[in-house]
Amino acid sequence: MTQPLFMVQPDPHARPIPPTECLWVDPARPDPAVLDRAAAWLARGEIVAFPTETVYGLGADALNPAAVAKIFEAKGRPAANPLIVHVAGFAAARRLVTAWPESAQRLAERFWPGPLTLVLPAGPEVPPIVTAGGSTVGLRMPAHPVALALLERAQRPLAAPSANRSNSISPTQADHVLSSLGGRIGLVLDGGRCPGGLESTVVDLTGPRPRLLRPGLIAPDELAAVLGTPIERASQSPPAEGPLRSPGMLARHYAPAARLEVLEPSSVLPRLAELLALHSRVGWLACGSGEAAIACESPGLLRLELPDDASGYASQLYAALHTFDAAEVGWILVSRPPQKLGWEAIHDRLARASVAGTPGD
Ligand code: TXA
Ligand code: MG
Repeated sequence: MTQPLFMVQPDPHARPIPPTECLWVDPARPDPAVLDRAAAWLARGEIVAFPTETVYGLGADALNPAAVAKIFEAKGRPAANPLIVHVAGFAAARRLVTAWPESAQRLAERFWPGPLTLVLPAGPEVPPIVTAGGSTVGLRMPAHPVALALLERAQRPLAAPSANRSNSISPTQADHVLSSLGGRIGLVLDGGRCPGGLESTVVDLTGPRPRLLRPGLIAPDELAAVLGTPIERASQSPPAEGPLRSPGMLARHYAPAARLEVLEPSSVLPRLAELLALHSRVGWLACGSGEAAIACESPGLLRLELPDDASGYASQLYAALHTFDAAEVGWILVSRPPQKLGWEAIHDRLARASVAGTPGD
């Protein structure tokens, strides 16, 4: 019998890793017994993954630093990346900030509950681990019935980043959470597919003018219409020092394992031929049924088609990238979706996913 060259010693400081339990919660009628169970976990300082209308979140009591630390540990997330705090309503939000400007009131009235995160001056109650040591906190009231019911039962704000290992694609289904964090977290609430499919819009209200830190399901034009002022765009470059304004701004983020390339639909066919000669499996993400006319049959080709309307495309994009990852394709070719209003967040995520090199988060 061959001896192993070395034995991996268990880390004496590591927390015992629980087996991951996954409980179904019907979004139409969330089961109070399951919610109570999850709320009890949160009250004990444990972490729980739950569905939101954007992507699955990995939640912890936002006011308990030891609980929040478990999020960073499970995700392998750098401490410099602040977390969004999820709240059950306006009153809970206002308790966590030192200022609630008119702009926050107007945006929250129009878009909460919903996929909009407001960055505001953090109150003294918010632990530094949540804000990455910065003076601001991101707040959002989610619209998903399971997320809202959990917040109400838990009776505490929940810090919750996307429920995936740092650097990988956000989960839009419970099985995505399990494949990324299974064995690293104790409990997942499975509420089915997240309807939105892309992360919330993040807007910073702490400066002289509102600033978009991350495009999302709510377009900047919609924010500008409510505020009556244009929205500034945050710069893409990280600051020389201090916490990152929003690590979602970093070039490579939201990326699948394989290289991803976005091409005009007319250039797809010749590129596919080149890639299929180099890789045993190639993924092609088509947009709309029009491209079915591009005939390319190959056993190594995995072709997925997304709807040609922005919300349909957004809701299925990450699931498609997860499918390509699971199929271990060597390269992903994406037919460029329409460059129209409402597609901004989709182009943003595709651009970040197509940057080669070391991921930013
Ligand atoms: O839709 C979403 O926002 C999902 C669901 C679970 O709510 N959450 C999510 O969290 O996408 P996460 O951690 O994956 O992304 C949060 C983004 C990051 O880019 C982070 O840097 C930024 O929000 N962020 C959080 N707090 C911030 C703050 N105080 N200032 C600037 N950016 C902040
Ligand atoms: Mg994330």
